[in-house]
Amino acid sequence: MGRLPLEGVRIVDCTQVWGGPYCTTILADLGAETIKLEPPYGEQARGGRKPVGRHYYTKGESGEKPWNRDSTFVARNRNKLSVSLNLSKERGKELFKELTRISDVVVDNFAAGVMDRLGVGYDELRKVKPDIIVASGNGYGRDGPWSAYHSYGVIQEPMCGFMSLTGYIGDDIPYRSGVDHIDPLTGIHMAGAIMAALLHRHKTGEGQQINISMLESGINFIGPAMLNYILNGKLLEHKGNRHNQDAMAPHGCYRCKGKDDWVAIAISSKEDWSAFCKATGDLPWTKERRFSDLHNRLKNQDELDKLVEAWTMKKDKYEVMRILQKAGVAAGAVNSIGELFSEPHLKARRFWQTVRHPEIGPVTQMGPKFKFSGVAERLARPAPLFAADTDFVFKKLIGLTHAELMQAIDDGIVFTEPADGKHSPRKSKPPEELVGG
Ligand SMILES: CC(C)(COP(=O)(O)OP(=O)(O)OC[C@H]1O[C@@H](n2cnc3c(N)ncnc32)[C@H](O)[C@@H]1OP(=O)(O)O)[C@@H](O)C(=O)NCCC(=O)NCCS
Repeated sequence: MGRLPLEGVRIVDCTQVWGGPYCTTILADLGAETIKLEPPYGEQARGGRKPVGRHYYTKGESGEKPWNRDSTFVARNRNKLSVSLNLSKERGKELFKELTRISDVVVDNFAAGVMDRLGVGYDELRKVKPDIIVASGNGYGRDGPWSAYHSYGVIQEPMCGFMSLTGYIGDDIPYRSGVDHIDPLTGIHMAGAIMAALLHRHKTGEGQQINISMLESGINFIGPAMLNYILNGKLLEHKGNRHNQDAMAPHGCYRCKGKDDWVAIAISSKEDWSAFCKATGDLPWTKERRFSDLHNRLKNQDELDKLVEAWTMKKDKYEVMRILQKAGVAAGAVNSIGELFSEPHLKARRFWQTVRHPEIGPVTQMGPKFKFSGVAERLARPAPLFAADTDFVFKKLIGLTHAELMQAIDDGIVFTEPADGKHSPRKSKPPEELVGG
């Protein structure tokens, strides 16, 4: 059996929360040896040394070591190793550079400039490893007036214009999508750029510095709404569940038989509409002139939606999906998160994996999204315990003796348990000259 595409590539992963860890999860799933290098207080998603109410501890218990049980961390860091190194001390920087020397990529998603201020930015790292690839994902990128601003997904959803598109017809309140999706979206952009840089290095021998902005990743995702403004000077109105560019009708979610059960239907072409009419049993209203083509269906969408729903309401959501899909019409049940676990399709594709986490026990997690021909599917490793790989990384990879490692632990350079304090050792706010007075 073959190897995963990134086997043999080593990543130093200084990422936190979701965007950066999503990027490194992709790389780890692709086979890269991914070493999560955490600050002394632990990665932010671990929630700190003491249990915090807001955190979702796995199986509802914070346990003796809450930092190993935070479901945010557990869900986002499979297949990775963990060490903790204090980069504010000279010896910590030296050890970081030792690790860089034997690695291929360094990734972070701190605020822009943090890695430079810590003395482990691209210019320093390329001195020890000229072909190193250094990738940083920040809220707004490395330059520009907002470069030092802090950011989370929830900030980028409004900033990138996405929230101006969500909402019901006639409603002017901006709504969240419910998922901070600009985070993983940025992670996907980062992973793609890193793989391109690896290819570039393979061809030319050159390393690279990569910078990705969450804002720009989000704007890229707006797609047609952005193009509509550029080409037509028009802003899209809130459309609720209807097609935001009037390209489909019926379109949206229709109530079904069960309690709070819905199905989504999307009909675009003449052929789709004919197939829909046939699949629903050629109901008399489907022959009416007011629904004869897309233009008419859009004009009479309120009535159309009511009639479609009168049909879906009599059926189970999966039945509607089956009937319409059999006729070649795109339709899908609106699933709750719980329902996804019993979906036969996901089971058949072995999407869910149950792995054994050393402190939590069996944990069900999403398996790697990629399937490569000739490469055996394998169980992902659960997210690492804090600093679980201290010996492997510092002794085996970097070559410290046992005594040297113990000294580094005594000196507060290497941590084997999170230090007490807030999740980030950052001073209260970014330097004033960077964010403006
Ligand atoms: C997520 C975010 C808001 C968190 O803010 P924060 O916890 O205050 O962290 P910052 O990135 O500003 O800074 C990290 C601090 O930890 C310090 N630090 C990080 N790793 C360290 C280590 N291993 N050893 C010692 N210090 C370390 C840095 O020096 C920095 O302190 P400084 O500002 O005094 O130099 C911020 O990192 C950010 O905006 N990131 C970019 C956008 C992003 O990806 N957001 C998350 C999306 S999921």
